[in-house]
Amino acid sequence: MEKLAQLERTVLEIARHFAPAVLASSLSAEDMVLTDAILRLEAGIEIFTLNTGRLHPETLQLIDAVEERYGYRIRTFEPDPREVSQFLNAHGDEAIYRSIALRKRCCEIRKLMPLAQALAGKRAWITGLRREQSITRANVQEREFDAVHGLAKFNPLAHWSEAEVWNYIGAFGVPYNPLYDRGFRSIGCAPCTRPVAPGEDPRAGRWWWEDASTRECGLHVGPDGKLIRSRQGQP
Ligand code: ADX
Ligand code: SF4
Repeated sequence: MEKLAQLERTVLEIARHFAPAVLASSLSAEDMVLTDAILRLEAGIEIFTLNTGRLHPETLQLIDAVEERYGYRIRTFEPDPREVSQFLNAHGDEAIYRSIALRKRCCEIRKLMPLAQALAGKRAWITGLRREQSITRANVQEREFDAVHGLAKFNPLAHWSEAEVWNYIGAFGVPYNPLYDRGFRSIGCAPCTRPVAPGEDPRAGRWWWEDASTRECGLHVGPDGKLIRSRQGQP
């Protein structure tokens, strides 16, 4: 369990040297591992979710499950309702399937703009990114500098496998999204997520109508559309 010890060391180090730090939680299995570590160690790291308005009810219910289990209420950030209605009025509900640009604009309004608010005034953010997740994430480092938001970014599970994530969840009895038991392996907004068949790529159910190289929402990509290849080290 070297990875477990390493994870606990990292969480405590971030809490000590990068306060105020935050965990961005999509309520994924990975983020539940990080949530458990943060709350079990009483690290004092805030946890937030970008509630896009399009998440599955099962995903949102995990916020209550976390509160019941740990006595901690995850903070939520919502998109600007005017931006959302302008987008819907101009392009309609199905726009995200019609063009990559419109799909990315939806992600910008529902995720990126609220993310900027959530990260304002913070010194570091933590994510559940893993290298194994997709070709766009193969170079993710455990510690990076996020040049877009101007703060340190930690991906403590970068080298974890999917099996290791689930072993942790089993070992610590961590609550998780029941959609995983129904064939989902990577969960985002409901209109952009579907279950995957056995043997399929875990992220094949995300924006499945697009090419694998564009399947990112922009939370972890730079303005050039490439995954942020930031230098390691202090901000
Ligand atoms: S995404 O960029 O394609 O949506 P993915 O769902 O794999 O990403 O999540 C990767 C990491 O991005 C999560 O572990 C989490 O840190 C962050 N993240 C993604 N979606 C959200 C969200 N709705 N709220 C907060 N953090 C999120
Ligand atoms: Fe919009 Fe889909 Fe992006 Fe969610 S994942 S913000 S519904 S385009």
